[in-house]
Amino acid sequence: MSEQVNIVYHNEKKDLPLQQLHELFIAVGWSDGGVLPEEMKAGFIKPWLHSTLVISAWDGDHLVGAVRVLSDAIFRSVIYDLLVAPEYQGKGIGSELVNRCKSHYPGSEWLVGCDRKNVAFYKKLGFQDIFESDAFLVIPCKLF
Ligand SMILES: CC(C)(COP(=O)(O)OP(=O)(O)OC[C@H]1O[C@@H](n2cnc3c(N)ncnc32)[C@H](O)[C@@H]1OP(=O)(O)O)[C@@H](O)C(=O)NCCC(=O)NCCS
Repeated sequence: MSEQVNIVYHNEKKDLPLQQLHELFIAVGWSDGGVLPEEMKAGFIKPWLHSTLVISAWDGDHLVGAVRVLSDAIFRSVIYDLLVAPEYQGKGIGSELVNRCKSHYPGSEWLVGCDRKNVAFYKKLGFQDIFESDAFLVIPCKLF
């Protein structure tokens, strides 16, 4: 069982502090360490503001994890950008973020696209790898 730390979770706040969110992205290797140019700041936070649900994990005033969801609130929900600060990983925070998402829209189908290395993590949370049965088609994002 993972060691639990004293983490507070918020699900009302989509406008996460940009600097801390960017530092999380850098910490997990999703962004290089460069300063976010002024013109890119709006583009960085917009997906979070436009998501149906954002759940964030806090150690005091320190943002240590976050996830966002696009959902029709009934049938289908998609998880994006689940990330936990490396020094807080392995303490159950990632699982808690996903479980809180799932309990927000109970009964919904849940989808997530992820690296193969994270498949086992999601399987522990009840996700099934459907690629052997169903196809999942994609037009890749052209912005990166
Ligand atoms: C993937 C990630 C969100 C997991 O968060 P976490 O807080 O470390 O996960 P948890 O502590 O809740 O782990 C729950 C269980 O899954 C296991 N686990 C965690 N990451 C795993 C992985 N990549 N592969 C297999 N198992 C994993 C843990 O060992 C733990 O097992 P246990 O219940 O038997 O102790 C985190 O490692 C992360 O932010 N990674 C970088 C960003 C990323 O890849 N995000 C996923 C985007 S799809």
